[in-house]
Amino acid sequence: MQAKKQKIIIGNWKMNPLSIGEAKEIFLGVKKVATSLTNVKTVICPPFVYLSLLNKLYTDEVIAFGAQNVFWDTKGAFTGEISAPMIKSVGGSFVIVGHSERRNMGETDEVVQKKTALALRSGLTAVVCIGEKERDKDGNFFHFLKGQIRESLKGLHKKHLERIVIAYEPIWAINKSDKDAMSPGDLREMAIFIRKNLVDHFKTASAASISILYGGSASSSTAKELVGGGQVDGLLVGHQSLDVTNFSDILKTVNAL
Ligand code: PGA
Repeated sequence: MQAKKQKIIIGNWKMNPLSIGEAKEIFLGVKKVATSLTNVKTVICPPFVYLSLLNKLYTDEVIAFGAQNVFWDTKGAFTGEISAPMIKSVGGSFVIVGHSERRNMGETDEVVQKKTALALRSGLTAVVCIGEKERDKDGNFFHFLKGQIRESLKGLHKKHLERIVIAYEPIWAINKSDKDAMSPGDLREMAIFIRKNLVDHFKTASAASISILYGGSASSSTAKELVGGGQVDGLLVGHQSLDVTNFSDILKTVNAL
């Protein structure tokens, strides 16, 4: 019998918390629950400055660490930037690329593509974010997403398919209350659409096995419906990932699906 595919739950801490002390507290709280779960892969993406310190607290493989951004070159005169080999060398194995909050600061599909390509070549798993600003009644968001998939994933090598994750994060649902998350029915439709576009893009049926995560005000009360009803492979959780109780409940809920 084929092993059940692990769901992926990523905690995107964004620019939080304010101190390493708080970061340790949150991480150790999450660790207590996450370490015992077998159906869920927990990934914690703290700010860069906390990454290696948290990784030293935990060297087991059950929880993975990731970064929230990466540069598109390996090394050199790029003041303030951080490269994929650096992330790897401090214990990171995932990286979020093209989050809408970065795209909003000017990151284009072309930049997202360059960052993703180098992250994959460096051995990281790239969590590529896509998502529309609004769900217009004419359905233009479908064309928009198709374009984001085509341009952000342009020229990527099929041999890296297993290390590509898509985070579908409709911008209108991000950082709101849990009742503002996308409905499971709409999410299911979007997941089918994205999966079909991935297969078309990579011209191989194996692209259908790329994990698709949902992000946008996911919470412990909506996790079951979003992942189960929405038929996605996990969640990218923002503000709720900083609350140990809520994030632990999300992990346990999805683990039980
Ligand atoms: P949210 O953030 O869960 O706070 O809406 C999700 C994200 O932006 O990754």
